[in-house]
Amino acid sequence: MSRGEDGAATRVDEGREAPHGPLRGVCARGLPLEAALRTLRERIPEPPEILLVLGSGLGGMVEVVRDVVTVGFGEIPGFPEAGVAGHQGRFVAGRIGGRWVLVQQGRFHFYEGHPPEVVTAPVCLAAQLGVSGAIFTNAAGGLTPELGPGSILLLDDHLDFMGRHPHDDLNLPGRHPHHHLNRAGRHPLPGPVQGGGERFPNMRAPYDFRLQELALEVALEMRIPLSRGIYAGVSGPSYETRAEVRAIRAAGAHAVGMSTVPEVTMARALGLRVLAFSLITNRAAGLGVGLLDHQEVLDVGKAAGGRLQALVQAILAGWPGGDRPSGPSG
Ligand code: HPA
Repeated sequence: MSRGEDGAATRVDEGREAPHGPLRGVCARGLPLEAALRTLRERIPEPPEILLVLGSGLGGMVEVVRDVVTVGFGEIPGFPEAGVAGHQGRFVAGRIGGRWVLVQQGRFHFYEGHPPEVVTAPVCLAAQLGVSGAIFTNAAGGLTPELGPGSILLLDDHLDFMGRHPHDDLNLPGRHPHHHLNRAGRHPLPGPVQGGGERFPNMRAPYDFRLQELALEVALEMRIPLSRGIYAGVSGPSYETRAEVRAIRAAGAHAVGMSTVPEVTMARALGLRVLAFSLITNRAAGLGVGLLDHQEVLDVGKAAGGRLQALVQAILAGWPGGDRPSGPSG
């Protein structure tokens, strides 16, 4: 259930703007979402409060969802299938830790050839359904000595290094028909500003400070080691060169991965409170031994994902009410 300005619970009905932002302004560029939204509203009995996006190897989280309703991406009009091994491609709505959560198992990536409006469509739909917050998880390579495989990073900022990739112009199978709309690099928010949308959305504090504090407290109580730091988002699909790893580290990042940044950018433009975690599955290229491969990422995700799942479950149980995002000063 989402909250109105007076804190009262409100249902977000068709035709009404969600309480926290100019959805039409930032979401309605290119990808028609009305039919998708209708399908989700028909299938999901109660408006979810929080979106939870599961990264590679973290799909086990859906097992703790109660009162489950599952909607496969293939059943949603206009949605492509999620195409990466380890990504199931479905929404699972239900209760975790007593909260109504929309779990997104599998996501769309730039490296699959998807344009920004497809990558961020689940965030737009979740916001339109009424969520006031989002938790993103991902698999990432660690860039510091402390962040070895199996460790967890709490994001407190990010670097958007998701420029264009030469493989963009390949005719990849499963490529979305709207790919030609991707004319403005990899950012999810180009195009005309409509419906009161913000031309230059603020990204001073993308990751909610109060939620970060909650995550750190819960991790301490549960004796789960949790580092806090900066995630660099790259488009992939190639892993980084050793020189790129050095440059990304020098830019201040603690982990590097191929997702999350566009979704967080959209979520913040919609006024959602955001929390995000990287599960470190490997040392970034050149910092560890041997070559990276996707199976290794999935295996570590499965093995160490349990701790992150327990942490997210406890955070959801303690998730604060109220919609107001909190930044460095409040
Ligand atoms: N680099 C980029 N993306 C990743 C990595 C990495 O080392 N590991 C998991 N996702």
